[in-house]
Amino acid sequence: MIPDDLDTIVGTLADRFAGERGALLPLLHAIQAEVGWVPDAAIPLVARALNLSRAEVHGVVTFYHDFRREPAGRHIVKLCLAEACKARGVGAIETALSDRLGLPIDETSEDGRVSFEAVYCLGLCATGPNALVNDKPVSRLDAHKIDRIVAQVSA
Ligand code: FES
Repeated sequence: MIPDDLDTIVGTLADRFAGERGALLPLLHAIQAEVGWVPDAAIPLVARALNLSRAEVHGVVTFYHDFRREPAGRHIVKLCLAEACKARGVGAIETALSDRLGLPIDETSEDGRVSFEAVYCLGLCATGPNALVNDKPVSRLDAHKIDRIVAQVSA
């Protein structure tokens, strides 16, 4: 849900970065930290605050995968699909997690309970396959750990 006071939120956050070069990324991160995502309605507000075009702001928001364009689920499962985790069998883990969560990767459940997302290397390659569950790493994923993850995000 878009906050009613989005323009105030963006204006207040933009004031923090007023006059700084390269303020766009920090401002977008601040909006995401405050709101939980970067609504499309924030784009013209950011453009005006930083004296940029809407196209410039839109281009940055859509280029960086880290910026959410929709609200995330209450729980977030990020599964590493990069090479080292692939070599350690993340393909089967992705299939099993997707089946158990009832979601394809990069989707959020309709009830807003969980988002299942791809990431590309968590820096834990030696202990893959790896995931982040609500920002906590889970390594050496196997059927038992999938059970635990599913139980955790079912709450
Ligand atoms: S490839 Fe998965 S943590 Fe590096």
